[in-house]
Amino acid sequence: MDEILINGGNRLSGEVRISGAKNSALPILASTILSGGECVITNLPRVVDVLTMGKLLGILGAKVSHEGNRAVIEADMIASTEAPYDLVKTMRASVLVLGPLVARCGEAKVSLPGGCAIGSRPVNLHLAGLAKLGAEISIEHGYITARAKRLKGARIYCDTPTVTGTENLMMAASLADGVTMLENAAKEPEIVDLAHFLVKRGARIHGAGTDVITIEGVPQLHGGDHDVIPDRIEAGTYLAAGAMTRGEVTVTHCHPSHLEAVLMKLREAGADVQEEKDMVHLTMPGTLKGTDVKTLPFPGFPTDMQAQMVALMSLAEGTSVITETVFESRFMHVEELRRMGADIRVEGNRLVVTGRKALTGAPVMASDLRASAGLIVAGLAADGLTQVQRVYHLDRGYERLEEKLRALGADIQRRPMTTKMQ
Ligand code: UD1
Repeated sequence: MDEILINGGNRLSGEVRISGAKNSALPILASTILSGGECVITNLPRVVDVLTMGKLLGILGAKVSHEGNRAVIEADMIASTEAPYDLVKTMRASVLVLGPLVARCGEAKVSLPGGCAIGSRPVNLHLAGLAKLGAEISIEHGYITARAKRLKGARIYCDTPTVTGTENLMMAASLADGVTMLENAAKEPEIVDLAHFLVKRGARIHGAGTDVITIEGVPQLHGGDHDVIPDRIEAGTYLAAGAMTRGEVTVTHCHPSHLEAVLMKLREAGADVQEEKDMVHLTMPGTLKGTDVKTLPFPGFPTDMQAQMVALMSLAEGTSVITETVFESRFMHVEELRRMGADIRVEGNRLVVTGRKALTGAPVMASDLRASAGLIVAGLAADGLTQVQRVYHLDRGYERLEEKLRALGADIQRRPMTTKMQ
């Protein structure tokens, strides 16, 4: 197992190119099994979750050739309709093959994702939606089984907007008989990206990016090409790191319109943020100021940027209240940030962060992908050495993180861990 060592205090400065969005790449890859024909996907981030999805598609029978940021997938034959536990337990987003498999093959068996460091993450809305489309759902021996000779279009209302749930149902409904209306759908840019790819392949989808998506089912899709959108969370993370180190950071190859809520909060925190067509420049001319943040589904402030914002606020002047409304217990980074000297009080789903003059480096443990990003951001500004352990979480979602930060001037390196962790 590796650890990341950061000697904090360097002011970050320069440009960083943003990679493709992991959360777009995963559903887009999963959707390739909806049909035969060649799918060529580019701007894939080189992260472990994308490799895991490639492995899963291979298990299902697709021919996957993946090199660098490009993959060519041909799913002319589906050899298996089962997503095994060993794979699903490493990546919850494996559940994204459920909708495509049942829609195309009439059956799917997907391991039920287990517990998660950010609280309970049920898939009941995915299942209720598929049941509305006519699938017979059962849960036995830790596996979800869905069966339907052919799915039938239906009106589906989601109690809570769910990102992967909306994606699963949009994919399944693309091959259903008749029209499906998904109400209270999630509106994240990654859903729009998936819809664009499906439409290129012959699907009839309207309204992606709004809370009502209409899908007119078609008998089959064909192959197609697609360039994955940039990762808005990666962009937000580098901007937060720039603000945290009083630096000057430009993120390039991104979509500023996907980052509005984050940019607004960075401005409230005192950053000077300039948007251009596909880049954002950030400088910190004055003091870092405390600001309140509430996570919400898109276009609200993303929960995937909460930990990075908590790190930032722990060095800001005054008191900030960070409210997490998307996940029930996504505060695993708090104890670790406290070990670095942060003053954070947990009150239910709110964090009250009182800014400190300085943080101090410490050994800390990553608990999930974005919590790890929060610890990295904190370590970049802390005095002395921060050792971030369990970095495999980071590798799931950040492409070449140390390399990109080093290019911005950070003193950061990765090394195999020498001591055994408890
Ligand atoms: C996706 C993202 C993740 C991000 C999250 C919220 C991917 C691969 N992952 O996760 O990075 O943090 O959106 O923006 O795209 N819920 C239910 N029942 C369900 C499904 C969800 O109650 O069947 C609840 C969840 O517990 C949570 C809320 O809905 O409270 C939103 O979760 P959801 O949007 O589904 O998150 P994911 O799609 O898992």
